[in-house]
Amino acid sequence: MAATRKRDLVSIDDLGNAEIESLFALADDLGGDRKAARELARGLILVTLFYEPSTRTRLSFEAAMLRLGGSYQSCPNMDDTSAAKGESLADTMRVVGRYGDVVVLRHPREGSARVAGRYSPVPVVNAGDGGREHPTQTLVDLYTIARDKGKLDGLCVAFTGDLRYGRTVHSLAYALARFGADIVCLPAKGLELPHHVVRKLESEFGCYPVKLTPEDLEGAFERTDGLLITAGRPFQPDLFSTAERRSAIRRRLSHLDVLYVTRVQKERLEGEAVGDLPVVNLELLAEPRFRQALVLHPLPRVNEIAYEVDDDPRARYFTQVERGVPMRMAILAHVLGLRELPIVDGARKRRPQTSPPPLYRSDLGLRCPSPRCITATERAYLVPEFFVLERRPLRLRCAFCDVLLEPTLVASRIERVFHRFDSPHASKIRLPNLVVFDSVESAKRAGFRAGEPAEVGR
Ligand code: NCD
Repeated sequence: MAATRKRDLVSIDDLGNAEIESLFALADDLGGDRKAARELARGLILVTLFYEPSTRTRLSFEAAMLRLGGSYQSCPNMDDTSAAKGESLADTMRVVGRYGDVVVLRHPREGSARVAGRYSPVPVVNAGDGGREHPTQTLVDLYTIARDKGKLDGLCVAFTGDLRYGRTVHSLAYALARFGADIVCLPAKGLELPHHVVRKLESEFGCYPVKLTPEDLEGAFERTDGLLITAGRPFQPDLFSTAERRSAIRRRLSHLDVLYVTRVQKERLEGEAVGDLPVVNLELLAEPRFRQALVLHPLPRVNEIAYEVDDDPRARYFTQVERGVPMRMAILAHVLGLRELPIVDGARKRRPQTSPPPLYRSDLGLRCPSPRCITATERAYLVPEFFVLERRPLRLRCAFCDVLLEPTLVASRIERVFHRFDSPHASKIRLPNLVVFDSVESAKRAGFRAGEPAEVGR
């Protein structure tokens, strides 16, 4: 058999829209025909490595592997493993990837799944990397929406709760944007969608953020700092008068297809003040805009949804749980190469994404400043990597945790002279020779000298 590339699932962007829809069809197949599924992974082992608590994700992956006829290995408590002795993530992955055929990893650091995929000899599936992404929950969420609404295109989906650290929100927002959905953000104060997520929705998926007013939001959420992130630019100011614009926005908000509720990720808070949100109860759901809205939640629920909602037909969070097993059977069958993805309704089996921006990688100079980034702890072997989104002004995105940076100083590692990013010298430096600094001091400390003083500035 010809060697195929190892299939990791680190980000929802690793799958094209057509592949996502094919996974729904595969989940239908595998979930519907237990007999056909139960020989598929015979003799194969799944390793579940969870450095953070989990009920659904771990158990549903293990159930999925058992239903496929395979078996699994798990560490009940990562504090009882060599991680507690200081073993790096890279070495752990090199080891467990020699025991199992696929690894499902949950880890508190942003970008950990990408590192794991790089060092594991077998496919790695990201079951949540810090507050960054949770692509398999997104597949479960999309599967539920697609099967309940009969479509994924052109929906209007509201997110409420913790949009800052809620990794399920980030992955789902990226996927929905690719399917042309409008996204309404109704965050608790202090837990707004991170800047880098909004920028990515804008720059990569052509979405346009519009701030919402209390009049736009009237009702339970009117005191929220709401944002409408809309596909295309239908509400841009130059095309409409203010009044026309406001009434178009209000019309859009008058019918929501999904209300996606999340809990505050209190384990990720660092003492920041966080506001309250209205509890989702039957009174709130009586607002006309929620008449047709599916109420989704990745769970666990703490107190965001009143228990009285559970029996309402719009409450679909336990249906999400139920669909988690067939969807994760499909994910395992796909990454293990056990089943070709079915072709769905003319959807082509190719990845529609544009090619990623150029990568800047350097052991000298700038490091990601985020304390949550995997590069902050696994320093002994990880070289900083950034996607170069723009050269003038210089805009970089950490290739591990996605954080955006706008450093001002660049240098050539050959001449060892640094310049401002907008100087004529800066644009001549070729990417393989580029070194980026965040301050004059750090450039000098690294043994680089200033170009023209006027160019470097301070
Ligand atoms: C979510 C997670 O871990 O990100 N849970 C899950 O996987 N279903 C949501 C959460 O913990 O709030």
